[in-house]
Amino acid sequence: MPFKAYPTEKRAQKRVRPHRWEVRKSTHRKEIDEALVGNHRRDSALRNGPLQDHLTPHLAKNPFSCKSPPVDTQLLVADFEDWRETVTEAVALLEQGEVVALPTETVYGLAACAFNAEAVAKIFEVKERPSFDPLIVHIGRKSDLEKVAVVPEEIRELVDELIEAHWPGALTLVLPKHEDIPDLVTSGLPTVAVRLSAHEIMCEVAKVHGPIAAPSANRYGRISPTSAQAVMDELGGRIPLIIDGGACRDGLESTIIAPTMTEKGPVLRLLRPGPVSKEDLRLIAKVERVRNKPGATVEAPGQRASHYAPATPLMIVTKPGEFVPEEGKKYGLLTYRGSGGACLIDLTDWTATQTLSPGKGKLSEAAVRLFYCLRQLDAAGLDLIVAEPVANTGVGVAIMDRLKRAAAAHS
Ligand code: TXA
Ligand code: MG
Repeated sequence: MPFKAYPTEKRAQKRVRPHRWEVRKSTHRKEIDEALVGNHRRDSALRNGPLQDHLTPHLAKNPFSCKSPPVDTQLLVADFEDWRETVTEAVALLEQGEVVALPTETVYGLAACAFNAEAVAKIFEVKERPSFDPLIVHIGRKSDLEKVAVVPEEIRELVDELIEAHWPGALTLVLPKHEDIPDLVTSGLPTVAVRLSAHEIMCEVAKVHGPIAAPSANRYGRISPTSAQAVMDELGGRIPLIIDGGACRDGLESTIIAPTMTEKGPVLRLLRPGPVSKEDLRLIAKVERVRNKPGATVEAPGQRASHYAPATPLMIVTKPGEFVPEEGKKYGLLTYRGSGGACLIDLTDWTATQTLSPGKGKLSEAAVRLFYCLRQLDAAGLDLIVAEPVANTGVGVAIMDRLKRAAAAHS
């Protein structure tokens, strides 16, 4: 239990700084570009080493536990009117090689300069993430794609169409990586996952600072955070800054695809379902779901069967007969609508219930609420979470994907 000794809740104070927002000189575009080039040079010797080379000695021995001294975590609330000031604060820390948590429209991300291998190593440390799991790189403008990826000529038109239709937004593209991206970011893969977020704060930080690596801001294998408080619960005491940009609009991690050209024409290989649905993608090209067969080489670690899991075991129950409650056990229900249809609400005396889409039963609402509801149930001291399935269509495919992985984590 690496963080048990740390009084994170107390240390992670909610401090909203008074106004002292002069725009630092170093945030000017040209100076940032120069600083990044400098980073590249300083970095060049480090760039292609394994994760262990970038870690402090105790972490090199055990890279998947975070034992760095606790830090005060500042939670800065982005004002509706002047959120740009939070951008200045985040950029300043990123320039110092720090990690900061930022809102996106999908889930909160934990950001570091994408070209600075030592800063990226901090992401792995803070998240306790194994080095074989590559990160997503966020850019702030479409033209920055060429700084992080190389688009092969044969799929250029396809990529342009995808970008035109879905950027900024919840679509991540896996493309051959630019040589300036450290191997640490891509876990040694020759490809890089890139996205342009639709959230003003994430987008502006990536625009002003330059490309940033940003996986979801949770500890490895756990539920992605969809609010600043959820980030605080996950990473408070480990990172210096969380920007609170409100609840995430989509609530589920981005759709990840690898655009490819085959003999039969363009194919979008779907690596992770998300808010941009198969139906949306089919308007552009054929979609092929990449499934992780047991024993097969994992193309992307995020495809592992168990992931995105609450600490409490979870079971998906389609029909009442599939679940027999035991005496003295505490059960929680994750229901879709809370009543009607195949609802399991009357099956037992639930210790806690959470409804994904109260009232009408809308998949988009269920997607936004999924991780919040799972966190609530996880905190209720249950023996088991029983989850009702949702319709396997549109964003329902992504919801079922996350539920199945949560169930697999304890099977
Ligand atoms: O919505 C999102 O995508 C959020 C926000 C913060 O951007 N990010 C996110 O990152 O969910 P993360 O690291 O939790 O999940 C990204 C997944 C990884 O698990 C990995 O499997 C996959 O993206 N990935 C990254 N690079 C890849 C690559 N080169 N090829 C295939 N998959 C890759
Ligand atoms: Mg994640």
